[in-house]
Amino acid sequence: MTGVRIVGVGHYAPERIVDNQELETWFDTSDEWITSRTGMKRRHWTSPDEATSDLALAAARNALANANLEPGDIDAYVVATVYPDYLFPATACIVASKLGAVDKAAFDIEIACSGFIYGLTVTSSLVRAGVYKRVMLIGAETLSKLVNKEDRGTAILFGDGAGAVILEASEQDSFLAAELGSDGSKPELLRVAAGGSRRPVDHAALDEGADRIYMEGREVFKFAVTKMIAATDAALAKAGLAKSDVDFLIPHQANKRIIDAAMKYLDIPAERCVVNIHEYGNTSAASIPIALSEAVRAGRVKPGDVIVFVGFGGGLSWGAVVWKWA
Ligand code: COA
Repeated sequence: MTGVRIVGVGHYAPERIVDNQELETWFDTSDEWITSRTGMKRRHWTSPDEATSDLALAAARNALANANLEPGDIDAYVVATVYPDYLFPATACIVASKLGAVDKAAFDIEIACSGFIYGLTVTSSLVRAGVYKRVMLIGAETLSKLVNKEDRGTAILFGDGAGAVILEASEQDSFLAAELGSDGSKPELLRVAAGGSRRPVDHAALDEGADRIYMEGREVFKFAVTKMIAATDAALAKAGLAKSDVDFLIPHQANKRIIDAAMKYLDIPAERCVVNIHEYGNTSAASIPIALSEAVRAGRVKPGDVIVFVGFGGGLSWGAVVWKWA
C-alpha cells in the first residue's frame, strides 16, 4: 500500500454577501440573536444563475493552480454535495468536463454535512490502494437555494461555497485513521422531505416547505456535540494518538456553540481550532475544505502537523479523520 498526501487546496465563495442585518429585514430576528446563538455574521449566497458545479469548478481551478497541476493530471474527480446541479448526472462529471479533463472517473458523494469526511476517507483509500495516483475531492454546496426563507430557525444558518483538495500518492502517509458513523432511524430530524423517491415533487400536493430544509435544531445540536466528541476520540484512538498530539482541529462549521462545547470537552485550546463560521455560515460539505484551504494559504498549517477533521450532519451521520500534514 502506498501513502497519500494533499498537494493542493482551493476554495471559492459567491460574491453576494448576506449579513445578519439583511436577515433582520426578512423576519423577526436580530444580529445579536444570530451572533450569540451561532457565531455567524455573514454568509455568501449564489446568484440565481450559479449552480453547485459553478462553485465547485472555481474551487477546483484554485486547487489545481495551488498544486501546479493540469486538469488532465487528475485521475478521478469526486464532488461531495447535498444539492447537486441535477438529480443526475453527477455534478462531478460536469466539473471534470468543464475543466477539460477528458474521460476521467467522476462521481458524487451524498452524506450531507459529513460529505467531506466520508469523501476524504473514500478518496484517500483509492489512492492508498493504488487505484489512482491523483484524486480531486471537492465539497460544494448552494444551500441558500434549498432553505425555507420564511423559517428563521434555518434560513440564518446556511451559506454557499466550495472547497477542494488534491490527493496524491506519496511515500509518506498523511492518512492516519478514520471513524465514520450513521443513524438513519430518524431522518425527520434534518431533511428535505420531498423531491426524492419517497415523496416525488408534486407541487400541487406539497405541504408548505416540504421541498425545503427542515431541522429539529435542539435535537441536532445535542447530537452534533456528542458525535463531534465521540468521533474525534475514536479516530485519535485508532491512530494511537492523544488529544495533546492534535495541532489543529478543523470541524464542520455548523454552530460556534457546538464547536466551543466540543473543544471544551476535548480539552483542546481554542487557538488550535480553525473557525471561519462568522464569514460563511454553514456551507455543509464545503465547510471543512474551505477552512482547510484558508488555514493552509494563511501559512497556519506546517508539515508534520496533526489535523483532526470532524463533521456531522443529515443522516444522521458523523465522522472524523486524523491527518498528518506533509
Ligand atoms: N432569531 C430570533 N429568534 C429565533 C430565531 C432567529 N433566527 N430562530 C429561532 N428563534 C427563536 C425560537 O423561535 C424560540 O423561540 P420561543 O422560545 O419563543 O419558541 C427561541 O428562539 C429558542 O429556539 P431554539 O430552537 O431553542 O434556539 P437554539 O438556542 O436551540 O438555537 C439553533 C437554534 C438552530 C441555532 C440551534 O438549535 C442549532 O444550532 N442547532 C444545530 C444546528 C446544526 O448544527 N445544524 C446543521 C447540522 S449539519
